Amino acid sequence: MNAMTKDLSSLVKKAESHSFCGQYRQRFHLMPPVGWLNDPNGLCQFHNVYHAFFQYSPFDPQGGLKLWGHSTSTDMVHWDYQGAALFPDQPFDCTGVYSGCAFVEEDTMYLYYTGNVKLEDGDYDYVHSGREGNTVLVTSSDGSTFGRKRLLMKNSDYPSNLSCHVRDPKVWKQDNRYYMLQGARSKNDVGMAVLFSSEDKVHWKAEKEIKTPYDFGYMWECPDYFSIDEYQILSASVQGLNGGIWKDRNVYQSGYFLVEGDLTEDCQLSSYHLWDYGFDYYAPQSFQTEDGRIVLTAWMGMPDCEEYGNQPTIDEGWQHCFTFPREIFTKDGKICQRPVQELKRQITQTQKAEHSFQAEGKTAYLVSIQNILDNHFYVRLSEELILEYEQNRFQMRFANPDKNGLSAGRGIRYLDMDHIENITILADVSSVEVFVNDGEAVFSTRYYPRQYSLDIQSKGAQICFSELR
Ligand code: FRU
Repeated sequence: MNAMTKDLSSLVKKAESHSFCGQYRQRFHLMPPVGWLNDPNGLCQFHNVYHAFFQYSPFDPQGGLKLWGHSTSTDMVHWDYQGAALFPDQPFDCTGVYSGCAFVEEDTMYLYYTGNVKLEDGDYDYVHSGREGNTVLVTSSDGSTFGRKRLLMKNSDYPSNLSCHVRDPKVWKQDNRYYMLQGARSKNDVGMAVLFSSEDKVHWKAEKEIKTPYDFGYMWECPDYFSIDEYQILSASVQGLNGGIWKDRNVYQSGYFLVEGDLTEDCQLSSYHLWDYGFDYYAPQSFQTEDGRIVLTAWMGMPDCEEYGNQPTIDEGWQHCFTFPREIFTKDGKICQRPVQELKRQITQTQKAEHSFQAEGKTAYLVSIQNILDNHFYVRLSEELILEYEQNRFQMRFANPDKNGLSAGRGIRYLDMDHIENITILADVSSVEVFVNDGEAVFSTRYYPRQYSLDIQSKGAQICFSELR
């Protein structure tokens, strides 16, 4: 440990020693112990344990210098915080240990991340100058101690048409070669992913740009790639989509393209589908469980979002959490999502009803509403979060977008859908995730009720309400 690591480590421990209990702390969503969390990083299952690292700023619930926090779990439901794993303690990552991934092979966990360096005191625009995005590797053989950091690539190793914004490595193995995607912004403001390849996981060569035939945003963050059944999915969090269909949506988007052909050779990208249509969803990352499931987890928050007011958890000393881990599956050619099955072990009591259901004072539950007739659906959670189907669209809306209220400034999000058949609602103390038509579309939001209530009206539907412990 160098002196810088020691100093940072004791500062983090000091920040974490202020214990608190907040009214909006979640029961089964991964949260930072204190301070700020953003992207999921290094998700993997290693020696039977699930590891989730996260972008972490323990010193201030409104963000700041980023490190990697580290939590582990044996069921993806209960997460045990293990401490800060990677500190910004080197010249190549001194202004932030930015996002990255885990790649597991032969009893070793390889963590790849971006060492962010933001230079001071210069005439910089931080797009074309004044910033470094270094690719760094750290390995671990036990999942709890992390070795020496190795600087693998600097901006000068990336294709020369790219701006300084290159980051968020995601690594996988295919046909006995290793591949890495990084998110990038070109010098002329075109968003893309860049593919690298390697024979030894250490020396990397830039292979090609992966982008749409038309310009699609100015920056792609946190690219990801996986296969599910016969589909190849390229995921990216895209900045700079404005106007038209993006007008009523979030400031940045997270979605995927279906890849036709081979990503590493010749390929074409389909149109872009959003992973989530709600208010709070960004920077998802996938990993494969040892039993072969693809699990996708995102930051249940949004960066640079002026629409929302201050989240009330800031007064409790923390901000943000992950989405509940979702298994990706396909149904009739559609890519769908559902909460990982381990959640069901949390069910304590179940009540069944038809047409309508009401409950008071419940903070954590899973409701399944099946066989919806005539698209008739209206649900109110607490005072003012409304889920409904109206004029051929499914919508999630807050009746009162007051920045100091339950919505903290959130208004309405919707998706045009010609019919709805079933809805699953997963509510935790301060979040709601809604899976429409077996998870063909998902809507996620944070919310901050003072009193909890639930009112479901859905003609003819079979309602199954399960309390979660
Ligand atoms: C996405 C992101 C990443 C970056 C990280 C920094 O939310 O901007 O591109 O690595 O967050 O915290």
